[in-house]
Amino acid sequence: MVDRPRIGIIVSTTRQGRFADAPLKWLVDIASKRNDADFEVVDLRDYPMPFFEEMGSPFYVPPANEVAKKWAGKIDSLDGYIFITAEYNHSISGVLKNALDYVYREFNRKPATFLSYGGTGGTRAVEHLRHILAELQVASLKWNVTLGMTELLGIMREGKTMADYPYLVETAEKMLDDLVWWTDALRDARRSKAKLAA
Ligand SMILES: Cc1cc2nc3c(=O)[nH]c(=O)nc-3n(C[C@H](O)[C@H](O)[C@H](O)COP(=O)(O)O)c2cc1C
Repeated sequence: MVDRPRIGIIVSTTRQGRFADAPLKWLVDIASKRNDADFEVVDLRDYPMPFFEEMGSPFYVPPANEVAKKWAGKIDSLDGYIFITAEYNHSISGVLKNALDYVYREFNRKPATFLSYGGTGGTRAVEHLRHILAELQVASLKWNVTLGMTELLGIMREGKTMADYPYLVETAEKMLDDLVWWTDALRDARRSKAKLAA
């Protein structure tokens, strides 16, 4: 039986007309050519959660909200993550931060990387996100894809597409190679060390 790791591509902005869809489609095309992992899009539009109003942190209390339960279940079912993230005021979107606040154990001891975009490649958002993920016991990885002003303005204003920036493909493949390695390694470790972790 094929036992490929499952990797979620998390789309973390939800507004109408979001830029996220351009890199999402591009990344899904690249990822779907691989046979070493199964990739799945996890769009926060499909998980419309209220601002966090639970009894406590999910570290102590599982969420009661039904959508949050579904979101936590989805995160639990995955072995690794790619966050497609914009930069909102030098950080991640409020929607993503809210979603992260609802989940704890389901993220633990799994790896994540990033496809970010913004004036400076969305890098400030990624660095904030790494801090948040540290608390969730997610291993955040070095290799990621950044889209800066050139690509953003080209796509938003000049009718270009991701195909006009072919140099990004190599970076994406390196990112995926590395993520799959970590996803395999940490999945094996979680399985073999399950008793210790309990
Ligand atoms: C509330 C808000 C704050 C933003 N702040 C930044 C920022 O700090 N740095 C940046 O490079 N771009 C910033 N932008 C511009 C975004 O990079 C750009 O709008 C991008 O398309 C947003 O991603 P989205 O289209 O997927 O929502 C901001 C956009 C919004 C809506």
